[in-house]
Amino acid sequence: MRIGVLTGGGDCPGLNSVIRALVFKSVKEYGSEVIGIKYGWKGAVENITTELSLDKTEDIIREGGTILKSSRTNPFKIEGGPEAVIKTMKDNKLDALVAIGGEDTCGVASKLYNQYKINVIGVPKTIDNDLSGTDVTFGFDTCINIVTDAIDSLHTTACSHERVLVCEVMGRHAGWIASFSGISGNADYILVPEEEVDTKELCETIKKVYAKKSYAIIVAAEGAKLSNQDVTKDTELDAFGHVKLGGIGEKIAKIIEKETGIETRSTTLGHIQRGGRPSAFDRVLGTRLGWKAAEMVQNGEWGKMSAIVGNKTQAVSLNEAVGSLKTLELSIHQDSKLFFGTETDKQLAKSH
Ligand code: F6P
Repeated sequence: MRIGVLTGGGDCPGLNSVIRALVFKSVKEYGSEVIGIKYGWKGAVENITTELSLDKTEDIIREGGTILKSSRTNPFKIEGGPEAVIKTMKDNKLDALVAIGGEDTCGVASKLYNQYKINVIGVPKTIDNDLSGTDVTFGFDTCINIVTDAIDSLHTTACSHERVLVCEVMGRHAGWIASFSGISGNADYILVPEEEVDTKELCETIKKVYAKKSYAIIVAAEGAKLSNQDVTKDTELDAFGHVKLGGIGEKIAKIIEKETGIETRSTTLGHIQRGGRPSAFDRVLGTRLGWKAAEMVQNGEWGKMSAIVGNKTQAVSLNEAVGSLKTLELSIHQDSKLFFGTETDKQLAKSH
């Protein structure tokens, strides 16, 4: 068999582990060939390919990003786009296409399968961890480790200067990154897209925290909403209809400073969260998903996505995976509030 593989959407650490595992299992176990399609769906439309071999992929597991490069191209927004993908497959004699990506990339894969009967398999990827059908996505673990390190650093400088620091993190529609890194970094308040920001309650909590320890740390997901509105950089939309989010940290910092009178600054971590080497967890997770995708190709499990369900790899429906986003479990967010504005033991004893 000849198998094409592409990586689409925002990159994340762990992509190369999937490519490596897919190549090794397909070549060594099944005698297949794997051809790299560069720049995500752009390469599939424009027929930009590269050779993939055992030699080329044997040591890429340690590298972040993707050796196949990425783009946010949507073939369904290009005249004749899906037909061009079919032609690229024919020209390269591809029997199957493995698309590694998040809701957008897997969304295209799902449409190509439903509408054009293309032999596609999806592999879930997103640092946001918001893809349904899988318990977890690679890149997320590396990301929350990077953010936790950053929050640890913010604690020391916030403490020295007796300031409030707001740390803006990624997470367009889901608060997984903000919640998990906020919990592990011991944030004093966490803002997530799933819950509208209550600025009054936020400022009251910060006042309490500040009275106790003379500084405070807030973690804000970029998709957290103020007065039910996204905070955006500009109004331009990408090929998948997404706005460029950004600026919630700055806005929140201004509100806190105005309402509490405490000096407040904000830090946006941006693409640092997606860069660098993958954690060991993400390397292994990507590898397992790549092996599973190779097996699914041989079994002809088209229109499905390799996923982790209950810590086992499994083939799940692509349609279901892209049907709705996996947002943050609200009970996790609720419980994390136990750490916001903690009373002293004495105060608690009095109130009980
Ligand atoms: O989709 C993952 C993501 O990292 C989001 O968290 C973020 O909003 C977006 O990508 C940033 O996209 P870009 O790399 O195009 O700026």
